[in-house]
Amino acid sequence: MSPFLSDLLLISLALTCCVLADLPDGPSDSMDERFDNLHWLDLNGGLNNLSYQAYTVAQWAFGTVPQACFDMAGDRQCDPHELEVFDVNYSDAKYTKVICRCTDSPMQIWDIADDIGRVPVKARQWINYVGSFNAPDCSAYSGANHITILGNCAERASVTIHEVAHSLDGWAVYKGNGAQYSATREWKRTVGKDTCVPDNYAKSRWSESWAQVAVLAAYHFNVGSIWDLDGGVECMRGQMEKVIQQLEGVLTFREADRCDRHWPEDPTVCMGDRAISEGLCEGLEVITTVERYPALDPEVQRGIEEDENSRMRHAEEESGLVVARKFKA
Ligand SMILES: *[C@@H]1O[C@H](CO)[C@@H](O)[C@H](O)[C@H]1NC(C)=O
Ligand SMILES: *[C@@H]1O[C@H](CO)[C@@H](O)[C@H](O)[C@H]1NC(C)=O
Repeated sequence: MSPFLSDLLLISLALTCCVLADLPDGPSDSMDERFDNLHWLDLNGGLNNLSYQAYTVAQWAFGTVPQACFDMAGDRQCDPHELEVFDVNYSDAKYTKVICRCTDSPMQIWDIADDIGRVPVKARQWINYVGSFNAPDCSAYSGANHITILGNCAERASVTIHEVAHSLDGWAVYKGNGAQYSATREWKRTVGKDTCVPDNYAKSRWSESWAQVAVLAAYHFNVGSIWDLDGGVECMRGQMEKVIQQLEGVLTFREADRCDRHWPEDPTVCMGDRAISEGLCEGLEVITTVERYPALDPEVQRGIEEDENSRMRHAEEESGLVVARKFKA
């Protein structure tokens, strides 16, 4: 073999090694992608046309914020003194939902509350704090049942439903302890037996494939039959049937539905030095860590953390906050 050829061989071996090592833990890349993306489900009388639940809003006084909002602000380079915190009291829920926004967010509180209010209460009750921050384009991610919205996602019901679905995956359809159904062999086998997934993003992780199918299921429950869509979804029948059966009770809007659970409140913490100097934080302990999950198997926990990091990275890229990295180091 010429030295040149053997070099080529080495290079191609090296590439094979690293491409393989980089393969995401999700549906096979060789599967068909049924749609370009799912945004079209919002439009023309789609998910955006779902009526939102009536609500009232009460803003917190300057000085203190829930720990979760404080943490989200830190991740998003928002000075906590710039946070506005709202208790949103939806008419179908016994407990208020806390939504916080940085003052430079392109979304007004009613934009955010409308979007969240379009999610049927039996699903909405599985998410906890919601934060909204500035970015050039709309994207969102979830972690520990909190949803972080980047950019202007007004009238993007599919984005909200996708994020809520991550909480349903861990809490509402499987063991009910945070372990994700989408990580089970059953789900991987179900996907593997079909020939397509909803779109390219569904291939990034198993949890994303499940959440994208959940968005299609929400359309099926509340807008129109998924089986009548132009061109059909026969190539993903197994996934659709499974998720429709899992989510019918939680993601279908029913007038009479009311919440039957809520997450415990986070501690209230001080915004920072300015709030302290104005005497607004007396008697408040500054707590910096909160135990949000019961102990899970370390392997399961690692999977969840990888999912959460991957979602945040993806959302940062999609919202235009960071340039998409084509190749991982
Ligand atoms: C949206 O919903 C309203 C009320 O249910 C209905 O009157 C309207 O026709 C719908 N819009 C579209 C584009 O389907
Ligand atoms: C929410 O609003 C209802 C009226 O719709 C009211 O009875 C209830 O006390 C409010 N809850 C909170 C926590 O403000």
